[in-house]
Amino acid sequence: MTGFSDSFQRPINYLRISITDRCNLRCIYCMPTEGIQLMSHSDILTYEEIYTMAKAAAELGIEKIRITGGEPLVRIGLPELIQMLAHIEGIDDVALTTNGVLLASYAAELKKTGLRRVNVSLDTLNQDKFELITCRNNLDDVLEGIEAARSVGLHPVKVNVVVMEGINDNELLDFATKTIDEGWHVRFIELMPSPGVSAIASQFVPVSEMKKRLKLLGKLKPCLPSVGNGPAKYFRFPHTSGTIGFITPVSEHFCFCCNRLRLTADGKLRPCLLSDYEIDLKSPLRSGIPSSELKKLIKKAVANKPLRHQLAEGCIPKDRPMTQVGG
Ligand code: 5AD
Ligand code: SF4
Repeated sequence: MTGFSDSFQRPINYLRISITDRCNLRCIYCMPTEGIQLMSHSDILTYEEIYTMAKAAAELGIEKIRITGGEPLVRIGLPELIQMLAHIEGIDDVALTTNGVLLASYAAELKKTGLRRVNVSLDTLNQDKFELITCRNNLDDVLEGIEAARSVGLHPVKVNVVVMEGINDNELLDFATKTIDEGWHVRFIELMPSPGVSAIASQFVPVSEMKKRLKLLGKLKPCLPSVGNGPAKYFRFPHTSGTIGFITPVSEHFCFCCNRLRLTADGKLRPCLLSDYEIDLKSPLRSGIPSSELKKLIKKAVANKPLRHQLAEGCIPKDRPMTQVGG
């Protein structure tokens, strides 16, 4: 079925599902410095509950699902969930966003169970910097994870880089060189404000500045026709197979073409990453709500999807850290 849209006529066909708030890294732009109150196991939707919600969403018009976290691979049995979701009628794409630490051991199994693609978060190619940004020491595991995903055909593997002034902005050219020499698909992301984290506004680098610095490597040509189903705009250097994407949540909001809904690990449906409005689905799911009623709740969340975020007006969502919403 097609034609699911919100009150601003934006088609809604993409569901991001956070399956855990736990993570094996501590990225400075995501994890609050004082730590987070972890959800208890009973708070977290079971795979069956996630499946029930996703099936109802697919019947309304959701076609694409992305699994996020925290770090999804720290939750036991992820391939099983992928298999369940990939078999839902109407779902034509199941993808994963991961920090890559555990990806090498799971890539082949994930591919087999129906995962199509992965995005890997990697903000630096330098060991010391990796430790500074993530407070852990797993750079080699992530690099192995990326290679494993590429070798089993989880194409295209996209590498997400949150660019921060004075931290990793001096690696823009190194990442860009990977798109030339090794065919990587790299996406540079503007730092978004998030409650309680140590990465701060003064570390923000606008995409316009990133593009200026990349000119040293040549002229970036837009990829035409435009690719992807998200907010990134893609470019490449001439005669290279890799691509460079830019994501501008702050300097140029892309809310007018936002096609997504988010389900948090504790079962709240959140129509906008950057607004605290959400609808509880966990209690209804646990009290055996019929699918027709579940669909009404999903429609209600979609009807309340705000037109755009208010970051420029200083409104930062405060109820949940990014690690609970999955970026
Ligand atoms: N700013 C920008 N991106 C963020 N992410 C998480 N927190 C932030 C933030 N404050 C995104 C990153 C990461 C993904 C899991 O979520 O892209 O790769
Ligand atoms: Fe974990 Fe991803 Fe947040 Fe880093 S950005 S702490 S890897 S959830």
